[in-house]
Amino acid sequence: MIETPRLILRPWRPEDLPVFAEQNADPETMRFYPAPLTREQSDAYAARHIRHMAEHGFAKWAVEAPGVAPFIGATGLAWVSFEADFAPAVEIGWRFNRRYWGSGYATEAAAAAIADGFNRIGLREIVALTALPNTPSIRVMERLGMTRAQEFDHPNVPAETGLKRHVLYRLARPDAS
Ligand SMILES: CC(C)(COP(=O)(O)OP(=O)(O)OC[C@H]1O[C@@H](n2cnc3c(N)ncnc32)[C@H](O)[C@@H]1OP(=O)(O)O)[C@@H](O)C(=O)NCCC(=O)NCCS
Repeated sequence: MIETPRLILRPWRPEDLPVFAEQNADPETMRFYPAPLTREQSDAYAARHIRHMAEHGFAKWAVEAPGVAPFIGATGLAWVSFEADFAPAVEIGWRFNRRYWGSGYATEAAAAAIADGFNRIGLREIVALTALPNTPSIRVMERLGMTRAQEFDHPNVPAETGLKRHVLYRLARPDAS
């Protein structure tokens, strides 16, 4: 578990799943992904991260905002799961419920997950990636101090979505040489 001034990054609970599925079914929230997720796909995403945590000691956490809501979204680290010229690499990602956008929660939670990646896990570098038009996500990367490195075509995103072109940001551990 990781605590920040306003948030707790914690393991997933069964009661998070329907709330996460509602968020993943929302077309506005999912507008920079190929499609919204079904309940089964949303549950599979959470299950993948529960497995990733057991296998690697890091993954996307469920994020709680005490006094606000028991589940507001997910953020954390994962191995890049597709072939790319920058892989193997560990990426930071985030997905928050639309009700809680515009409060700095994604940046606050991701900064804590990154610090955990550098300090506890010992990573030397963390990347982030998103579809080129996803400016809210790119703004989070920039607020985290990440540097724009390259563009690439995401191999798993169909061209007809218009979202194939992605941008990669990098962040080195402050003391890494
Ligand atoms: C990407 C995403 C997490 C960004 O959410 P966000 O709310 O814009 O980002 P943050 O939580 O960091 O909040 C920052 C905003 O809160 C504002 N804010 C308000 N109160 C604040 C506070 N106390 N502290 C910090 N920021 C605060 C900031 O000014 C900023 O607004 P701005 O971008 O208009 O300047 C969100 O759009 C999302 O979940 N999208 C869907 C999933 C997705 O696309 N994920 C990325 C795929 S790679």
